[in-house]
Amino acid sequence: MRIVIGISGASGVIYAKRLVEELYKKAELDIIISDTAKKIIEEELGLSYKYFEKFGTLHDNRDFFSPLASGSNKFDAFVIIPCSMKTLSAIANGYSSSLIVRVADISLKERRKLIIAPREMPFSSIHLENMLKLSNLGAIILAPCPAFYFKPKSLEDIVNFVVGRILDLLNIENNLFRRWRC
Ligand SMILES: Cc1cc2nc3c(=O)[nH]c(=O)nc-3n(C[C@H](O)[C@H](O)[C@H](O)COP(=O)(O)O)c2cc1C
Repeated sequence: MRIVIGISGASGVIYAKRLVEELYKKAELDIIISDTAKKIIEEELGLSYKYFEKFGTLHDNRDFFSPLASGSNKFDAFVIIPCSMKTLSAIANGYSSSLIVRVADISLKERRKLIIAPREMPFSSIHLENMLKLSNLGAIILAPCPAFYFKPKSLEDIVNFVVGRILDLLNIENNLFRRWRC
């Protein structure tokens, strides 16, 4: 299974870190990190974006000569986590100004699985309209809104809940969180 991960410049890069740490054992990964996301990784995680190198192949978000930029190269799913409102808007409007947006564009046109984890609070009507448009086109909008019925004890528990639900959507078995009444 080949999965592409896009990390854009929104808060919550910890979700991307946890996702790749879990996924690389089960899938071949390609990872695209936007320039702002690189800085947010330093700011929020105290890590260089190069930390992600050990989990998959890193691609420059401005490199349209990347193999990922063509629909002729196959992958099974694209997960954008976290997804900034700028990147969300570009995808919703088919404006492929970065590799992340181009791979999302390919996912839509080739009818491949596209999971978008938008991060903003509150959402404006523009954000919501863009999400609705993408949902109607087949993308899965997974806003990282954790449940609390499993009584999380730590930040890790909360992050694992969100990441576990993404693995569920990718049909990858996981026990990252306690399911309702299990
Ligand atoms: C520390 C930091 C946190 C940010 N968090 C968000 C966010 O949660 N959601 C969002 O839409 N934009 C956020 N932004 C603004 C985006 O980074 C900005 O709109 C940028 O142009 C997004 O570009 P990209 O999607 O190509 O990475 C944040 C910026 C910084 C510096």
